[in-house]
Amino acid sequence: MSERLEDIAQAMVAPNKGILAADESTGTMKKRLDSIGVECTGDNRRDYREMMFRTPVMAEHISGVILFDETIRQSAADGTPMVDIIKAAGTIPGIKVDTGAHALAGAAGEKVTEGLDGLRDRLNEYYTLGARFAKWRAVIAIGDTIPSQYCQNANAHALARYAALCQEAGLVPIVEPEVLMDGPHSLDDHFAATTLALQALYAQLAEQRVVLEGTILKPNMTLSGTECATQAGVEEVAARTVECLKANVPEAVPGICFLSGGQSDIDATAHLNAMNALGGLPWRLSYSYGRALQAAPLKAWGGRAENVAAAQAAFTHRARMNGAATAGAWSDEMENAG
Ligand code: 13P
Repeated sequence: MSERLEDIAQAMVAPNKGILAADESTGTMKKRLDSIGVECTGDNRRDYREMMFRTPVMAEHISGVILFDETIRQSAADGTPMVDIIKAAGTIPGIKVDTGAHALAGAAGEKVTEGLDGLRDRLNEYYTLGARFAKWRAVIAIGDTIPSQYCQNANAHALARYAALCQEAGLVPIVEPEVLMDGPHSLDDHFAATTLALQALYAQLAEQRVVLEGTILKPNMTLSGTECATQAGVEEVAARTVECLKANVPEAVPGICFLSGGQSDIDATAHLNAMNALGGLPWRLSYSYGRALQAAPLKAWGGRAENVAAAQAAFTHRARMNGAATAGAWSDEMENAG
């Protein structure tokens, strides 16, 4: 496959495909495995992820997988490197390279994502391990007096420094400025905070000479806060999300792969589908889901080898539903037929 950044980015948003975010840190994996009563050991993390990576639907609907450092170095139970299993499906390995969100100095309740120190060397190593794209997630919370412009700028600056280093190393940067859905805020508040996050991001990417054609944006959808009394419906979420993106994301960006961020599986699919059904979009709109692709297979697996087939069936169904949503071709009937 081509090594040009533009070609890799296009392949990440190929028709009917999207990204599987399987880059949970060990701490987050512990929470996921605790929820099904499975101990968080290296072998269990491997068995769980191997179950997904070996599912034939990968070739059909998963363009890329975001890995955590442990997984990109790990081998399957039979000794095959995980990266080789992913590549055998025609899927592109990617890597999470930020080291997490930490308190932002002088800004109570706000965070900035770290991981720039030594990043050039780490990116070069990940390239030799097979990665062709990377991910960096900024976390922006909404509260009475936040997000501040300071927090938006600090995170956008770090995202752009990361993105420029990725492109130097031959990796497509996924830039992820996540405005959290948690809280009582309205959809308008989420829209406003997302607008500022995208404006700060694209100003910094331009200043730091990042080639947009070789990037992928991973944003939140524009939603009502989880504790907001009025919850916007599917059509409103789709229309306002597209409005926000059209106003702030340059057309040179090849694709936008949403995070699911805590939405239910069906909401994440329905929202993506409704946006693509609107048509007339300048970029491809797809998914880079963690929870919305994994919740069902995680539950079906339950840590037991005898459940692998059922877990793979659950993963296949969600991947197919989201694949259909990238074409605006998903329906309730299809969902329930699975
Ligand atoms: P969710 O889809 O679970 O939000 O995870 C995507 C992700 O990679 C967040 O950084």
